[in-house]
Amino acid sequence: MPAASAAARAPALLELRGLHKRYANAEAALVDVSLRLDAGEVVGLIGPSGAGKSTLIRCVNRLVEPTAGQVLFGGQDVRGLSHVALRRVRCLIGMVFQNHALIDRLTVMENVLSGRLGSTGFWRSWFRRFKPADIGEAYRLLARLGLAGLENQRADALSGGQRQRVGLARALLQQPRLLLVDEPTASLDPRSSRETLRLLLELCREHGIAAIVSSHDVRLVMELLPRIVGLRDGSVVYDGPAAALTATELERIYGRDDEPPPQPPPAPADPRRVASALDVALE
Ligand SMILES: Nc1ncnc2c1ncn2[C@@H]1O[C@H](COP(=O)(O)OP(=O)(O)O)[C@@H](O)[C@H]1O
Ligand SMILES: [Mg+2]
Repeated sequence: MPAASAAARAPALLELRGLHKRYANAEAALVDVSLRLDAGEVVGLIGPSGAGKSTLIRCVNRLVEPTAGQVLFGGQDVRGLSHVALRRVRCLIGMVFQNHALIDRLTVMENVLSGRLGSTGFWRSWFRRFKPADIGEAYRLLARLGLAGLENQRADALSGGQRQRVGLARALLQQPRLLLVDEPTASLDPRSSRETLRLLLELCREHGIAAIVSSHDVRLVMELLPRIVGLRDGSVVYDGPAAALTATELERIYGRDDEPPPQPPPAPADPRRVASALDVALE
């Protein structure tokens, strides 16, 4: 059998099938979205503000409940999972938030180690009984991300770029198969944006992690990511190589005269969002 056809039959890491989302009293936010992501594959998600990027990302781990369709992770529909099974799946799906979502009063190291909360158990982590192996790995990741020496700084003493990298270290410590990354560079200057995204991609490649990375920075995403998915009004209007994304294609995504609109300023970090993403405050 030719290798190509064998590869074509390999199960996807993530497959969205006919996904719909309608929030209460609102227009449809996602309309029949289908998308396939192989293990280790990284895709850039672009589209104007309100196109549904955050909704799509949040439907994958059911932070937002889809209205219809399937979300197959490793072949299993996460929509049908029990609470316990969903928690297990969420351990394999890391999230990096737009607003860094760090806990300000905790140190860098404590924030990073909270990436293990999902698998360590809340009370064990509350009493700081992290495993030495996790602590060692946290040190390694922080050094890899250029944050060595900052382990005992409080999170609120860091710059925006540093905070975003702490968020990335925390997600990576979770040892996910998939990273969901929503606007990682929204609040960063151009240089930090490029550096953050470059590091993120490098680490995904090194660890074989797949990722969906949404961004309003079309140029940066096109430059760094091989595959782009374009959303408009909740529908996928482009899914292909960045190299084939022509001015005409960009016009289909963003409309004729529109520049991608600026993003709203980041909201303050909210520990409840961290807990809810890690699914730890439920017990
Ligand atoms: N919690 C919510 N309740 C109602 N409508 C929402 C909610 N979140 C997003 N929306 C709407 O869904 C659409 C898609 O939003 P979103 O996924 O945030 O887009 P993007 O991330 O591309 O800016 C928008 O019309 C937005 O107003
Ligand atoms: Mg968004």
